[in-house]
Amino acid sequence: MNQPLVDTFGRAHDNLRISVTDRCNIRCFYCMPAENVEFMPKSHLLTFEEIERFLKVVVKRGVKKIRLTGGEPLVRRDLHKLVQQIALIPEIEDIGLTTNGILLAEQAEGLYQAGLRRINVSLDALDPVKFKEVTRREGYEKVIEGIEAAQRVGFKPVKVNAVSIKGLTEDQIIPFGRMARETGVEIRFIEFMPLDADAAWQRDKVLFARDIIDTLEAEFGTLKPRGQLDPSAPATDFEFADGVGRIGIIASVSQPFCGKCNRFRLTADGKIRNCLFSLEETDIKDLLRGDATDQEILSAVEQSITSKKEGHEINSARFIQPDRPMYSIGG
Ligand code: 5AD
Ligand code: SF4
Repeated sequence: MNQPLVDTFGRAHDNLRISVTDRCNIRCFYCMPAENVEFMPKSHLLTFEEIERFLKVVVKRGVKKIRLTGGEPLVRRDLHKLVQQIALIPEIEDIGLTTNGILLAEQAEGLYQAGLRRINVSLDALDPVKFKEVTRREGYEKVIEGIEAAQRVGFKPVKVNAVSIKGLTEDQIIPFGRMARETGVEIRFIEFMPLDADAAWQRDKVLFARDIIDTLEAEFGTLKPRGQLDPSAPATDFEFADGVGRIGIIASVSQPFCGKCNRFRLTADGKIRNCLFSLEETDIKDLLRGDATDQEILSAVEQSITSKKEGHEINSARFIQPDRPMYSIGG
């Protein structure tokens, strides 16, 4: 392999998150506006062939872990075909998908057949009323069916991502703890980050990792830290004292993990972002649609990685929320 994609802080970037659409079938308030969302024109979306070409270039520089995101990736037609194209690239060791689960029950089998093995389902509440409060749409039962279908089909692991919001999701922590113990799904609590389309994020709306752990321990007893298999993983992993049930905490705000970040992103309209919070992006769509050589594409990627900042600065007065909200970055 050639030189890995190392930034000026020594971080090697082998993990690419690919957003396949900015469209979504629900409207989580921490991500999207409630109504009148302006989506990208279809012609701006990278085709599966363009994504594949890009991947074949960056694997030469050590990219080996892929996660497909959205918007909601399962609203992109024939997503299983992209999974299959990616699974056939020998250098790719790991493909994951982050979905809201609404369309998962109907697609789980096809995705598994195509070679996908890891699924994260975003679900912030285990109760249909609160689900609707967060997502501003119906669909709770469909998500639960999707999670069950994913487990049945054989996905391993199936994880649930639950965004934690002060004043809203405290009463969900124990139900999620029970779910982790009873179903084998790993529950990962994510601190609410300033990426909402309405720019209504405030620090006092973040339900912090410490409070989540305290609530779980008061109910279920001490949580045991699990050794980190992947040193770049954003989640800190725990299991319950009796070994039954796994919990992850993604403390993006209270304990930033930027120092060990190995991730960069490709948006659905073909821009490279070196960080969730970056204020600049590098276009790759025009290169892919022109006659660009592999080297020209790599130079654009290198330029993006080299300009990556040390960290997100959410906790400093200098922080500026990016113009792109979560649904058009891809999480
Ligand atoms: N803060 C924290 N997590 C978020 N997600 C989306 N928006 C936010 C936010 N503002 C989560 C989704 C999904 C993952 C990709 O990111 O719930 O699980
Ligand atoms: Fe859709 Fe995911 Fe954004 Fe929720 S967080 S609105 S599921 S893209």
